[in-house]
Amino acid sequence: MLAGGPAATGSVDRGSSLAPDVAVVGGGPIGWAVAWRCATRGLRVAVHDPAPGSGASHVAAGMLAPVAEAYFGERELTGLLTESAGRWPGFAAELGEAVGSDIGYRTEGTLMVGLTADDLAQTRRLWAYQQELGLPVTPLRPSQLREREPALAPRIRGGALAATDHQVDPRRLVPALRLAAERAGARLVAEPVRRLSEVTAAVTVVAAGCGTAALTGLPVRPVKGQVLRLRAPDGGPPGFRHVIRGYADGEQVYLVPRDSGEVVVGATVEERSDLEVSAGAVLRLLRAAVDLLPEIAEYDLVETRAGLRPGTPDNAPILGPLPGHPGVLVAAGHHRHGIVLAPVTADLITDLVTGVGSPDPLLAPFRPDRFVGPAGVGSATRPNFRLSTEDDSWN
Ligand code: GLY
Repeated sequence: MLAGGPAATGSVDRGSSLAPDVAVVGGGPIGWAVAWRCATRGLRVAVHDPAPGSGASHVAAGMLAPVAEAYFGERELTGLLTESAGRWPGFAAELGEAVGSDIGYRTEGTLMVGLTADDLAQTRRLWAYQQELGLPVTPLRPSQLREREPALAPRIRGGALAATDHQVDPRRLVPALRLAAERAGARLVAEPVRRLSEVTAAVTVVAAGCGTAALTGLPVRPVKGQVLRLRAPDGGPPGFRHVIRGYADGEQVYLVPRDSGEVVVGATVEERSDLEVSAGAVLRLLRAAVDLLPEIAEYDLVETRAGLRPGTPDNAPILGPLPGHPGVLVAAGHHRHGIVLAPVTADLITDLVTGVGSPDPLLAPFRPDRFVGPAGVGSATRPNFRLSTEDDSWN
């Protein structure tokens, strides 16, 4: 949509006081990734956030898990997750080159395990569905699991490997994205945006996580997650390399090991919007984690924290033009998948901003207008895939 404008001429004066071409509202992984991609295409970009990187991404474990997080009834979302995960190796390499720092991108894969026979039945049902979708899942017997990860509890009944489910450290990723965007010319405006009319730019991209609802009327709601951080003793690395996900006596848990010795243990999924950490949640997460990996009982508990995932009615992100608001794009509602979806979101939104070609068909299931009902944005009680709006053209 900016084709032919000042930004497209390649003669942008980044130091000028001109209004930016693109204002990104929200300095999380999505906002900075969009800013980086737009800035490297020569656009003047401002990112508005009073506390960049302090939202859900600061709590997130950073699993890049299109396979283990392929849930029943979310086929289209799984397609987008898979597409974005496929872009991660290139994205990580490009980012590493741009900033010269390690973002904790690791590719050992993920083990999905069940502690008891009931837990295994539940895990197996999900991985059978994932295999039906053609996703790479390799079932493993208990002895094969322990060959890969000797620290796993001997009584684990079985599991499977999702070799293509990787991880990155969000606390390294977001600062790296910010640095890359700033090096490409983007600038931070460290102030809150309460109304879209406060922002002056040719295009506004709303990437404000849970704050997106107040700005746009779209149905983005907070979904609380409590997460723990442990540290392996004596400054060494954790005694396991894979991401471990599983059920232990019906409790779902994941453990994400970092080279630094940190282990992230998560997470609750609660329809609440407070940030309190409860003793009961810590107890349940630790019990399930220790049931799967007994040695972590010896680790230090260094942090307990809650974050708010930006959930949507169909658990899928909202990507594209905001109906009734020319020049406004939405890149929000990433719920449990903000880190893995950063590359594809940034590419798709940047293409819309620059008006390169026609909108990518990948966007179709995720457009904001699926939530347009008879009374306008946000009034659809369930996703409505039939409605279209006058804002279709972004060229
Ligand atoms: N994707 C991990 C979580 O939402 O807890």
